[in-house]
Amino acid sequence: MCGIVGYVGARECTEVLLNSLSKLEYRGYDSAGIAVFEDGEIRTRKSKGKIQDLVSKMETEGRITGHCGIGHTRWATHGEPSDVNSHPHGNANVTIVHNGIIENYKKIKEFLTRKGYVFESETDTETVAKLLDCFYEGNPMQTIQRVLDEIEGSYALGIMFRDYPGRIYAVRKDSPLIVAVGENEAFIASDVPAILKYTKNYYLLEQDEIAVLDNGRVEFFDDHGAPKKKQMLVADFDEEAAKKGNYPHYMIKEIHDQPVSIKTTVTPRIVNGMPNLEECGMTYERLKNYKNIFVVACGTAMHAGLVGKYVIEKLARVSVTVDVASEFRYRDPILSKDDLVILVSQSGETADTLEAMRLAKRNGTDTLAIVNVKGSSIARDADMVIYTHAGPEISVASTKAYMVQLSVFYLIAFSLAYANGRITEEECRHLVEQLTQVPDQIEEILKTPENCQYVASQLVNADNLLYIGRGLDYALSMEGSLKLKEISYIHSESYAAGELKHGTISLVTEEMPVIAVATQRDLFEKTISNVKEVKSRGAYVVLVTHEGQEVDKEAADCIITVPSIDDLLMPMTAVVPLQLIAYYTSVLRGNDVDKPRNLAKSVTVE
Ligand code: M6R
Repeated sequence: MCGIVGYVGARECTEVLLNSLSKLEYRGYDSAGIAVFEDGEIRTRKSKGKIQDLVSKMETEGRITGHCGIGHTRWATHGEPSDVNSHPHGNANVTIVHNGIIENYKKIKEFLTRKGYVFESETDTETVAKLLDCFYEGNPMQTIQRVLDEIEGSYALGIMFRDYPGRIYAVRKDSPLIVAVGENEAFIASDVPAILKYTKNYYLLEQDEIAVLDNGRVEFFDDHGAPKKKQMLVADFDEEAAKKGNYPHYMIKEIHDQPVSIKTTVTPRIVNGMPNLEECGMTYERLKNYKNIFVVACGTAMHAGLVGKYVIEKLARVSVTVDVASEFRYRDPILSKDDLVILVSQSGETADTLEAMRLAKRNGTDTLAIVNVKGSSIARDADMVIYTHAGPEISVASTKAYMVQLSVFYLIAFSLAYANGRITEEECRHLVEQLTQVPDQIEEILKTPENCQYVASQLVNADNLLYIGRGLDYALSMEGSLKLKEISYIHSESYAAGELKHGTISLVTEEMPVIAVATQRDLFEKTISNVKEVKSRGAYVVLVTHEGQEVDKEAADCIITVPSIDDLLMPMTAVVPLQLIAYYTSVLRGNDVDKPRNLAKSVTVE
């Protein structure tokens, strides 16, 4: 999704804007631009393509330079990626950058067209820039308030008025924006990594709050223009944590981060060998009173919820429904005050998940957020939050965030099963102890990536692929399939192994590789029968199972084993080869692993 940055201070601002924008590249974008106060005028440069294309364009058109400016990376929604649709938008009087969607932009455009405004771009953003210009009578604050009364939808805006050089106005609703402060300098940004090179101190802008950055000072106002005091936050990770280090891509670095991420997430929630989620407001007493649990999330986070469902239902015997957030919102779910809705999100800003949470709250249902980004919208608005401490996840393909989401689901399942008497204290301790062994097991798997590299070399020219599994392995294979397709662009589907013969097996030929996940001892033989079915139809078969499992060597073309642990915990280790296979396949295909086409890291529009 779009990225916004802004800078006011003594540094050369073009340098700062470009550097900060580069730290938001992970969000996904197709054009970039900046606007800078130069000799009292707002000068803009923008270009379709990457930040480097913008830099090259500046070499031709002339680099702009100054000490106050705004910048943007655009992920196209209204209008194709093009120079003219790129941000910033505006004219000599007022210039803006915008993240979000202005839902009533057509109405505003008609109004402005009647007033004689001519539009250059197809964007919704240009209507906001022109509306600001239209309403402006010398007082920026009043102008912004008036515009906020008119526009509907979601927005994070950085605004500069020609009459106020050295000043940036910032406002947001349902799109993230932070305001950071250094020594006599101030920044705006869509996300914390953008400012870490300069400062770790920042404020979270609340809904419809207006920030004014003026020559390095920052003031906040509510939507009526009354001044506000805000609490400053300090980023809990530094620039290094948001860097690749010696790894060629963020994705592989983040796969390797997983053992530490699990420890940081799990260790503080184990007290005397037992799971303890009280600091998040989730006592045993509270947990056991819920009648039904709903897990609502998107993409990989939803897949973590599917594993959670199997584990909670199996251990605690409480019914869990997992929904894709965009569906949950519109299916009129039956929620009661005795239920719990768990929202899972790495970014904490996913628009559909955020709206699903609001729906649950309107129904009076308790909401628990499992979120990675501190202070994000979902984390702030949920009744309870369990933070996953994965650190910044930069690669679009989520790996370590999934891993820590799983960890939290295990803690919830163990707590709930113990709270409602389905497992004894001894059994609970044993499960917790098994969970703490997972990081070492992942370290072991990561020492020998060669088998996954080999599998990737076998898959690299495939057009289609099937992942199969049963039970927890089916839930896991969905994540394996998503990982592969999003970064390798090979079409892949995940199928319940037992369901294959009801239609989909007709697709299986020697052209259709199959990755079978079979880590659940009670289902192993059944899955192997399905493996034999696809193998006998010519498929190249990769089998992922655990060490010690007796397997007929002929059953699959390649067998990958991971260390053995309690069956319930197998998804945590078995996902690692699936992540590695996806990663190496993408690398072999020469793709942009960390920034796959068309995708954004944080999906802040519906
Ligand atoms: O930030 P979130 O966890 O809410 O994001 C949800 C999905 O967009 C995300 O998991 C997506 O599916 C990943 N790109 C998958 O790797």
